[in-house]
Amino acid sequence: MTRKPRVMSGMRPTGGLHLGHLFGVLTQWVRYCDEAEAYFEIADMHAYTTEFDDPERIRDARDDMVAGWLAAGVDPQKATIFLQSGVPEISELHVLLSMITPLSWLERVPTFKGQIDALGAHIATYGFLGYPLLQLCDIAIVRGEFVPVGRDQVAHLELGREIVRRFNHRYGDGREILVEPQPTLSEFPEVPGTDGRKMSKSYSNAILIADDADATAKKIRAMITDPQKVRRGDPGHPEVCPVFALWKLLAPVAQIETIASGCRAGTLGCADDKRSFTDALNAYLAPIRERYRTYRDDPAQVARIVEEGTARTREIAASVLADVKRALKLL
Ligand code: TRP
Repeated sequence: MTRKPRVMSGMRPTGGLHLGHLFGVLTQWVRYCDEAEAYFEIADMHAYTTEFDDPERIRDARDDMVAGWLAAGVDPQKATIFLQSGVPEISELHVLLSMITPLSWLERVPTFKGQIDALGAHIATYGFLGYPLLQLCDIAIVRGEFVPVGRDQVAHLELGREIVRRFNHRYGDGREILVEPQPTLSEFPEVPGTDGRKMSKSYSNAILIADDADATAKKIRAMITDPQKVRRGDPGHPEVCPVFALWKLLAPVAQIETIASGCRAGTLGCADDKRSFTDALNAYLAPIRERYRTYRDDPAQVARIVEEGTARTREIAASVLADVKRALKLL
């Protein structure tokens, strides 16, 4: 039997899962539960890079996020779900690899300057600079080969591959001690929000798994459509309409074409279109929302899944760390 590929990915517990997580990342995770040996990480230490002021929030977001993963279909019988801070081997690997990571490589990762511009100079800590290195350590500690992520993470993996190459070249003695991780993108690597920008909690344009059907309807009703389509009979431009962009997540191609042509012809009005999109989205999310509530109401079960997964991860982490230390002549 051929070996299944090793897949690793993670998310920061910083608050409510939304359609961006669901269609950008979690659909891939669910598929990899069957097709790969998969490790999924609660990146709690990464959350402190930007939310160090609010440890309670990080703690609360933790089980909530895992409940969302399970609700989306991540199968803990097949995949390993683990807590980053529960695998200290990651932190040790981070210190070791920091010795061969040039400052200039970290400084030129676009999210470094980008997030400082967006969130303020107070986030520019030593730990924040090392964010993508820590991310590489998350992946490398289980020898992850494929990393299902959204488009914004691709630059982090590029840096990670460079560090792996440098490590193997200097210390590998012709062997690949660490694996170069490859990003994999879903059909929707960047999910648009209700305002057409990338869906993100910080833009207040997100539709959450935790929202109920009414809250979802309200958010969709408030969406701005094609500004040139004022009355129902006006011909519209679906390509500029954020409701149309969201339809693409759910509807089969034929239906998307019918909607586009109705909008262009002026026979489909925005209010009607929003109503039918609301129904379609709420129907899609209903079983996910129900499972989410079930897991939310059973924190002991979620805790057990994370504990078991973290223990499993530590076994492989210890062996990878030992390989790294042997290569560095520390063992
Ligand atoms: N940086 C990722 C994000 O913000 C989260 C993350 C942490 C991650 N560690 C990871 C993703 C390892 C993939 C692999 O989405």
